[in-house]
Amino acid sequence: MDLMEYQAKELFAKHGAKTTLGVVVESADDAKLAAEELGGVTVIKAQVKAGGRGKAGGVKIAKTADEAYEYASAILGMDIKGHTVHRVLVVPATPPVEEYYFSFLLDRSNRSYLCIASVEGGVEIEEVAKTNPEAVKQIAVDPGTGVDDAKAAEIVDEAGFPAELRDQAIAMAKSLWTAFVEEDATLVEVNPLARLEGDVLEALDGKMSLDDNADFRHEDHSGYEDSAAADPLEAKAKSKGLNYVKLDGEVGIIGNGAGLVMSTLDVVAYAGEAHGSVKPANFLDIGGGANAQVMADGLDVILNDEQVKSVFVNVFGGITSCDAVADGIVGALDILGDDATKPLVVRLDGNNVEEGRRILNEANHPLVSLEETMDGAADKAAELANAAK
Ligand SMILES: Nc1ncnc2c1ncn2[C@@H]1O[C@H](COP(=O)(O)OP(=O)(O)OP(=O)(O)O)[C@@H](O)[C@H]1O
Ligand SMILES: [Mg+2]
Repeated sequence: MDLMEYQAKELFAKHGAKTTLGVVVESADDAKLAAEELGGVTVIKAQVKAGGRGKAGGVKIAKTADEAYEYASAILGMDIKGHTVHRVLVVPATPPVEEYYFSFLLDRSNRSYLCIASVEGGVEIEEVAKTNPEAVKQIAVDPGTGVDDAKAAEIVDEAGFPAELRDQAIAMAKSLWTAFVEEDATLVEVNPLARLEGDVLEALDGKMSLDDNADFRHEDHSGYEDSAAADPLEAKAKSKGLNYVKLDGEVGIIGNGAGLVMSTLDVVAYAGEAHGSVKPANFLDIGGGANAQVMADGLDVILNDEQVKSVFVNVFGGITSCDAVADGIVGALDILGDDATKPLVVRLDGNNVEEGRRILNEANHPLVSLEETMDGAADKAAELANAAK
């Protein structure tokens, strides 16, 4: 799970990293109140899980509380790279004298951790990495020893932080490392890590990705989930324990097993080229337990996606046999009744396939067509989706 800036900063502060939390608000009125309370010049910052907010017009400096109101009204509701802004952060303006870049991340290919730091940081860090890659230092961090005083000093000296900020930078590196480890993060990024007037080093921005596999260790992390921004169908699928990812196309896909679902996406995308360029509408893996309820839940999610024009159910019977899946489909259509309105193309193979097909043929549901092969079914589903576009 990716965190928004204000959430990342909360965790930075929890582990002792210097940052200013400010006030998170959801309305322009509250932004004005917050600016009045903070006094002086403030910065109004869009809170979305996307980079490049400043360049998109989502970070504005407000000289007065009225300006804070004005900017917050403009930023709230704004779309930044497909993310709608529902919240803004109001923080005191602390103009950076210099901007640095600092991050810890999981380096999967080296089975290790990596620190990336640059004193030529700031919002143009990607540009620096291209034009002056020597200025961006990569320092491996041994997972066994982590970042102790010596390692923090090594990082800070390698990156070339100014001498007068050395102690603060070392403290910052250690605190960010603690946040990274203690919160089970896969990324902690500060851009800009800023030198403020009076030689104060502070995290002016924050990004953090948390490892969902460690959620069970962090009850407090569930509060960071962004229900407002989450796709309602994804939220519904999650609440039913389904493995569902919404995509952009027209052919809904249900399969059992992630591998099968992924290859189904491929064959549908390929078949779609001949049928008006239709594409898969989602990824939905119902796993091993394809009983009527699971199938009904899955179909319910997919059929409620307005973009879906046809559904391809692709099941390879293994531990769950094809007759159980066929019963599941028939049962699901019963449960959904009139809510099921889109054509379903079903391809069954594997354990007890004959019985599975017999059940579907006997039910003879007007929406269901049975296909022998995966390619044939993909083609049929694409054709039906294109016809209904
Ligand atoms: N509290 C602040 N006071 C003064 N200026 C600020 C403050 N916070 C941010 N800025 C300025 O705004 C710029 C952009 O801010 P920030 O890094 O938070 O957003 P961003 O980099 O555009 O977003 P993202 O990191 O998502 O790409 C910073 O480089 C900094 O110059
Ligand atoms: Mg930034």
